[in-house]
Amino acid sequence: MEKKIAVILGDGIGPEVTQQSIKVLNAIAQRFGHSFSYSFGLMGADAIDKTGNPLPDETIETCLQSDAILFGAIGHPKYDNDPTAKVRPEQGLLRLRKELQLFANIRPISTYSSLQHLSPLKSKQLKGVDFIIFRELTGGIYFGKKELSEDGSYASDLCSYSKEEIERVSHLAFQYAQKRRKKLTLVDKANVLETSRLWRKIVQEIAAQYSDVAVDYMFVDNAAMQIILNPAQFDVVLTENMFGDIVSDEASVLSGSLGLLPSASVGNKTALFEPIHGSYPQAAGKDIANPLGSILSAAMLLDHFQMNKEAAAVREAVGWTLANGFVSKDIDAINNYSTTAIGDLIMDHIERNADSDNS
Ligand code: IPM
Ligand code: MN
Repeated sequence: MEKKIAVILGDGIGPEVTQQSIKVLNAIAQRFGHSFSYSFGLMGADAIDKTGNPLPDETIETCLQSDAILFGAIGHPKYDNDPTAKVRPEQGLLRLRKELQLFANIRPISTYSSLQHLSPLKSKQLKGVDFIIFRELTGGIYFGKKELSEDGSYASDLCSYSKEEIERVSHLAFQYAQKRRKKLTLVDKANVLETSRLWRKIVQEIAAQYSDVAVDYMFVDNAAMQIILNPAQFDVVLTENMFGDIVSDEASVLSGSLGLLPSASVGNKTALFEPIHGSYPQAAGKDIANPLGSILSAAMLLDHFQMNKEAAAVREAVGWTLANGFVSKDIDAINNYSTTAIGDLIMDHIERNADSDNS
């Protein structure tokens, strides 16, 4: 198959981890007889430096003309410490999500037996942990009306949701649940927020169409606790934009490192694949960042192309590096491999195992 992939390297460690994914995708193309072409676009602090705009129109165009988008990371400390900055890197990503209508952000949380010692949780709690967070990505408080009074003494962010916005992501989450352990948990704050009550009402209605899926409802404060106390209870977690942002970082500690977690953002146009970690500026350019979050995002991209054997080959190679201690500094502070070395090991492993496809 021929596929066009838009690549946005972004900020911080974005470029170096994404380069490893490109190597891995090329190894997959070679082994399985596909042809992937890449078009690069600017976004984030990098784009502001070069063009003054966190998301130039050409980048949106490139994305729309591609079959999928591979994205690195966004953010730069010079903006984080300047709350008055009018142009910010994150605006690029938020606008891209909106322009491409990437309304569902899918974040799978898995655990690896060789990494259990890294999690602050006891291995007893980690047993059987395997869930997916469905985070609504183009609505809620992230995109509501923002205000700052002229004298700077008052600010407000509006949280709003429409029925349609809730329905489309909910249907997707229910469909995933049907293919998994058939359990869906809606995380909200329906005891306080009107938007959460609307979510609950709509999810209750939709649930009737998916009678094989067991639904439960959990307030977000309790969910934050349950993710640590009893994470194995979850299968599909459905939630609004900001709650999803927060609980997914929390859930990443179950895996042992934020550097391991991939995500897919899907909607009606081109889908986007990115690690859930940020730009990690302290590590930028040092070749020490964990590339697995990006490489596993590339595996999700292959699944999106219906290339399931190919995606499985990437995951197998990732599992092989973890099981053999070919890991980055976040996982092993003493015996570790560089970002590039891990990318090379995975690429070689995929090439080396090409024979198994014909057996
Ligand atoms: C994420 C990030 C983004 C978000 C930031 C960079 C805008 O934290 O993808 O989780 O808050 O959505
Ligand atoms: Mn986040």
